[in-house]
Amino acid sequence: MSVEQIPVENLTEAQAAAELAVLAAEIAKNDVLYHGKDRPEISDADYDALKRRNDAIEKRFPQLVRADSPSLKVGAAPLATFAPITHSRPMLSLDNTFSDEDVRDFVNSVYRFLGVLPDGSIAFTAEPKIDGLSMSIRYEQGRLVNAATRGDGTTGENVTENIRTIREIPERLPDGVPDVVEVRGEVYMSKADFLALNEKMAAEGKQTYVNPRNTAAGSLRQLDAKVTASRNLKFFAYAWGEMSAMPADTQMGMVAKFKEWGFPVNPLMKRLTSVDDIIAHYTDIGLKRPDLDYEIDGVVYKVDRLDLQERLGFRSRSPRWATAHKFPAEQAFTKVERIDIQVGRTGALTPVARLTPITVGGVVVTNATLHNEDYIKGLGNSGERIREDGHDIRIGDTVIVQRAGDVIPQVLDVVMEKRPADAIPYDFPKTCPVCGSHAVRDINEKTGKIDAVRRCTGGFVCRAQAVEHLKHFVSRNAYDIEGLGSKQIDFFFEAEDPALSIRTAPEIFTLEKRQAASLTKLENIEGFGRVSVRKLFEAINARRTIALNRFIYALGIRHVGETTAKLLARAYGTYAAFEAGMTAAASFSGEAWAELNSIDGIGEVVARAIVEFYKEPRNLDVIGRLLEEVTPEAAEVPVASDSPVAGKTVVFTGSLEKMTRDEAKAMAERLGAKVSGSVSKKTDLVVAGPGAGSKLDKAREFGVEVIDEDQWLERIKP
Ligand code: IVH
Repeated sequence: MSVEQIPVENLTEAQAAAELAVLAAEIAKNDVLYHGKDRPEISDADYDALKRRNDAIEKRFPQLVRADSPSLKVGAAPLATFAPITHSRPMLSLDNTFSDEDVRDFVNSVYRFLGVLPDGSIAFTAEPKIDGLSMSIRYEQGRLVNAATRGDGTTGENVTENIRTIREIPERLPDGVPDVVEVRGEVYMSKADFLALNEKMAAEGKQTYVNPRNTAAGSLRQLDAKVTASRNLKFFAYAWGEMSAMPADTQMGMVAKFKEWGFPVNPLMKRLTSVDDIIAHYTDIGLKRPDLDYEIDGVVYKVDRLDLQERLGFRSRSPRWATAHKFPAEQAFTKVERIDIQVGRTGALTPVARLTPITVGGVVVTNATLHNEDYIKGLGNSGERIREDGHDIRIGDTVIVQRAGDVIPQVLDVVMEKRPADAIPYDFPKTCPVCGSHAVRDINEKTGKIDAVRRCTGGFVCRAQAVEHLKHFVSRNAYDIEGLGSKQIDFFFEAEDPALSIRTAPEIFTLEKRQAASLTKLENIEGFGRVSVRKLFEAINARRTIALNRFIYALGIRHVGETTAKLLARAYGTYAAFEAGMTAAASFSGEAWAELNSIDGIGEVVARAIVEFYKEPRNLDVIGRLLEEVTPEAAEVPVASDSPVAGKTVVFTGSLEKMTRDEAKAMAERLGAKVSGSVSKKTDLVVAGPGAGSKLDKAREFGVEVIDEDQWLERIKP
């Protein structure tokens, strides 16, 4: 890189993480060139320098050791990537619950959705949540044919050969199993094996590992399956993907079958009906936790009957029939050395405590979020005092740090007895530390209260916001351009030469053309090289067409995350229709505004943010230039396109008798229909039950077809 190398001791954690990502990719690339293709692009000395830099950064930030870190790779095995495997059924994640109250809500929501009185008639299973990595293992005619990691839930990595080395996973299933069986579960490393491995590493003077889960992941992602074999990984089966026939009709029954077929299953799984029993089992597993030889981070509850699971179905990312009850987070004491401000994509000023490094639940923590200005002062969201007597957090204070799973650690409380006399109260900046613009706290239009977050008003002028926008644009769930990570974005953003500079997204796509016409060649800049430049342009060009939901997500509209972007893509179908709708809603009234608000899952705050975004001429200019370079694809027509209601807009009104409104809605969506909350000219069908009122009148007015519940069920019959 032509960017000056920052001495390791001066790196911020964010810079370190970004650099480790680049180093992992760079070293892996050179490994392949050297070992796999026998045509190294860099000298051995330069290669060693990369490795040393990687090790030095990891030594200072052990919590940042990546699953694909070069330091976790043994020997000089050729390191390539694993081939992708598209899951036959998506591998979803679980919703989290944290309190007894949440568990009660979960159980009640199941009854409510199914329209059953909460009479204790529905059974749930409860089993430990294993802290490993999930795996889908496919058998055809009883033989293991492939195994894939979860990946992004849709596509994972083909790790078949590595999985075959796990003794606990059968290569063949007994006679009589269904033709296609996909067993899913968790691959993990036992605590004992983890400790033994670390002892060995330390004895050999090598870097030790952070925790069993990362080590298990690293052990599995080895191109040389012998390394995986040496790690003694283990497995618990608890779920399934495609099955050509179902061998049981309950969760318990399925797991019993897995056991019969030779898979390890967790012995602490129980079938329970009352919330009290469920919570008692959670407490019991929590008490056993320290003595278990594997890491667990909670208890998973699932509706036992599979027919009920089917009826409950899924939300966008998780099933309605299951939840993970997490154990409380782990805590530790340490000192606040400094407070820094990070400026995010939306201009939010987030205070970050730089801490004396401390291990919390087996992971070294050096930074923790302080949320916002009020939080440092000891005030909660409604101005109430927090932390007992509302004391503030000062530089020099001893604090309690909490870490829960993958969430950013936070500073919970101050140990007042330990406050030194010279502890310095924190004066929150009123201007943006990056661009110097005023940083203000807006009034929330809905609540009339002052926003807890102070934001930089610099907008496009603020380099931090502009850079973060770009980083968001190329991030994994947005454009996901290989070779264009955080570090490269910093480089291109800072570049003054017009043949190199990237300040807004469209310039990513004009870079190749500008390069061709210029004498400042990227390939002559240290850290790029001819091959990597060619690959970068290939990666950029591969993204000239992109799924509509990714395109919308990449725009970085406030409040529009991946889920919302998907909802919008599905509702509008094409980018042109989406933009036309947003511009037409500029007055926050009228049909276009109503249409946006009728999308289930999009509330008013989000709707406003989107419309506001489209009122800003700068945004329209950037999008206009972007559309000269890229084409968002029309959104996929939802599944089940052969159903008679696919693609139709349906409104349910009045009361339903055979199922709850939620269930009816979920079912319609499964069949590819769009369910709307209000009737308009665009509505195709209204399902009206007894007591239907104004929506029914409207349907008649617009001449929309109206049917009752029985006719609806008849129509969608398989
Ligand atoms: S059930 C459709 N059961 O937790 C849901 N998941 O947060 C299928 N996990 O990706 C998952 N132990 O890796 C289930 N007993 C258990 C689990 C478990 C660990 C993991 C799994 C999943 C993640 C969801």
